[in-house]
Amino acid sequence: MNLLMCPVCREALSLTDRTWRCLNNHSYDVAKQGYVNLHVVQHKHSKNPGDTSESVQARRAFLSAGFYAPLQHALVEKIRELRIENLLDIGCGEGYYTDAMQAEVMQCMGVDIAKNAVQVAAKLNKNITWVVGTGATLPVLDHSIDLCTSLFSPIPKEEILRVLKPQAYLIVVTPAPAHLFAMREALFDEVNEHDPHKFVEQLQDAFELIEQPIVESEFTLDQQQLKNLIAMTPYAYKAKPEKRQALEEQGSTQLKAAFQIYLFQKK
Ligand SMILES: C[S@@+](CC[C@H](N)C(=O)[O-])C[C@H]1O[C@@H](n2cnc3c(N)ncnc32)[C@H](O)[C@@H]1O
Ligand SMILES: [Zn+2]
Repeated sequence: MNLLMCPVCREALSLTDRTWRCLNNHSYDVAKQGYVNLHVVQHKHSKNPGDTSESVQARRAFLSAGFYAPLQHALVEKIRELRIENLLDIGCGEGYYTDAMQAEVMQCMGVDIAKNAVQVAAKLNKNITWVVGTGATLPVLDHSIDLCTSLFSPIPKEEILRVLKPQAYLIVVTPAPAHLFAMREALFDEVNEHDPHKFVEQLQDAFELIEQPIVESEFTLDQQQLKNLIAMTPYAYKAKPEKRQALEEQGSTQLKAAFQIYLFQKK
């Protein structure tokens, strides 16, 4: 079944010979890397939106080393339990979590606004429909999705409500208060507490909160992996350069990541 929606006229898209086409003959070619660009100029605010190539490469190098594998495993287990047909990963980035989640569902789509991230993602898994697009206008048909995921990514509430089936699920993952505390302490004079609960407040009128487990991962990083971690987080550009440099010069760094998972169900 095709779940994609034409971003120009909002009709269904269907795929023939590596081209997605709607009945009004708007057409979108599958790129040679295996993704489709549905981010049309009408919805674009900048030429190269989303993450830079450096942060995409840093995230790929860090995640593929397995430091966040406990989160990946927790998500896979949960999705297996929920028995999901159609999954939409919003802000899929370079696809580390999307790739693992796909094995548990019938159909899987990953959408991200950053073309360079989706290009890297598309190499990972050919069984995923990889899409360059924006969460502000998801290129996905109404009431077609059983589970939306937003992992450290934007949560376009109205669009998520539109694409989800009745009583379908939303998983949000966001840093828990203890997340990388030692690293943030080294980078900033004053450490701002992460406040995951604000997402519950934003979503609770339309979604019921079903579960809220916290997943932790402890690891020791060498200099290169620490640099990758700093580069893939928002801390990179917020920290003072001299603090960042001092931290990056440490021989090895012990850290604990703490992830807040929220499982919501559409009311
Ligand atoms: C911190 S990254 C997380 C990536 C991935 N989920 C992961 O955990 O590895 C946030 C992602 O959201 C994407 N993003 C930002 N704004 C977006 C939007 N309006 N629509 C879709 N994706 C967006 C960025 O390009 C980036 O890849
Ligand atoms: Zn169209």
